[in-house]
Amino acid sequence: AATNATVNLYWHVVSQDTTLEGGNIPDSMIADQIAVLNEDYAPSGLQFVLAGTTRTVSWEWFNNVNPSTPTDQTQMKQQLRQGGAADFNVYSVGFTTPAAAGLLGYSTFPADYASDPTDDGSVILFSSLPGGSTDRFNEGKTLTHEAGHWVGLYHTFMGGCTGSGDLVDDTPPEASPASGCPTGRDTCSSPGLDPINNYMDYSDDSCMTQFTPGQGARMADQLRTYRDIDI
Ligand code: ARG
Ligand code: ZN
Repeated sequence: AATNATVNLYWHVVSQDTTLEGGNIPDSMIADQIAVLNEDYAPSGLQFVLAGTTRTVSWEWFNNVNPSTPTDQTQMKQQLRQGGAADFNVYSVGFTTPAAAGLLGYSTFPADYASDPTDDGSVILFSSLPGGSTDRFNEGKTLTHEAGHWVGLYHTFMGGCTGSGDLVDDTPPEASPASGCPTGRDTCSSPGLDPINNYMDYSDDSCMTQFTPGQGARMADQLRTYRDIDI
């Protein structure tokens, strides 16, 4: 990267009570998560610094916030979001409602900011943090993946084997999301094995190790265009 940029990160802990199992993660887990994030984004020239932490006990938000029933998340974000287009807001919740079952996280994209600034940011499962209780997804790669959307990246399996896929040309196309950490997975006839080690696939955390140079270029372009961030 030509330049390095630092993004302010606002962490919003939403819990159903004041216990760890209820989502009240300690500051040390948040620090460990941000360390993972910074390690994963270092080659791209992007770094995140904790600019504030909020703690809210809300049974309703902890359990019911999810992308398909927007009422709770709109209310949560209106109350908690801080900063502007260049600031990263992260909400940790429980996703226990049936509509959210199995969800690890979801995010907005840079181009969404202008039409709905309050919605901007990532919502993640609190137990996906490093040391959390979600089996196979507790090394912090969920936030790396969600931050990938926040900087403008699509899934590596976008569009399957045909078409423009994820709009990045050094991520070989794949037919569908990978799971686990398969050896030699190759779902498309075009050159290249499936990018199962990419942060923007769906593999296990232990399998996720990289962004490509093409993804680095796309994030730089998206960040400059929509968030006024130069990397
Ligand atoms: N399924 C989620 C999404 O599409 C996140 C996947 C995260 N994967 C992981 N290994 N932590 O945004
Ligand atoms: Zn995703």
